[in-house]
Amino acid sequence: MHIHKFERFWIKLSFGLIAFFIASVIYGFVSMDLKVVGDYQTIDPQNLGETEFAKTGVREVTKNGQTEYEVYVKTMQFAFQPGTASPIVVPANTRVTFYITSPDVLHGFDLAGTNINTMAIPGQVAKLTTIFPEPREYGIVCNEYCGPAHHIMEGKVKVVP
Ligand code: CUA
Repeated sequence: MHIHKFERFWIKLSFGLIAFFIASVIYGFVSMDLKVVGDYQTIDPQNLGETEFAKTGVREVTKNGQTEYEVYVKTMQFAFQPGTASPIVVPANTRVTFYITSPDVLHGFDLAGTNINTMAIPGQVAKLTTIFPEPREYGIVCNEYCGPAHHIMEGKVKVVP
C-alpha cells in the first residue's frame, strides 16, 4: 500500500508527539519530590509527642538579643492547634516564625491576606517567618482537601499591639 510521503511524515510526527507527552508525564511523576514551602525538617508524624510539637503554641524566644516568637502549629482533621479553639496571638513588628506540620493527612496553612501559605505534609515541618506590621486579625484556611469537614477547617491569628 502506498502512503504519500507527506502523510507518512504527519503520521510519524503524531506518534512522536504522543510518545513525547507520555514520556514527559512519566518524567514528571518520577522526578516529583513533594516538598513543603520553607521545608525545614522531617519528623515522625506518629510521634509528635516526643518533639517540639508536644506542646503546640506560641513561644517567646530571644535570638540575637531580640524578642522573637515561635509558633508550633499542628494541622489536623479538622482544626489548627493552636488557631481554631483559640487564636494564635502574636505582637506586631516582631519576627514570628511558624513551624507547621500534620499528624494525619495533607492540609494547607494559608494566612489569608499574607504571603504565609504552605502545605502541611505528615512527616515534614514547614518553617515560615514573617513580621506583621500592624495589629489586625487574619483568618487561617486549609486549602488542601483533607476530608468531609475540610470546608470548616479554619483558624485565626490575632496580631496585637
Ligand atoms: Cu485540612 Cu482541608
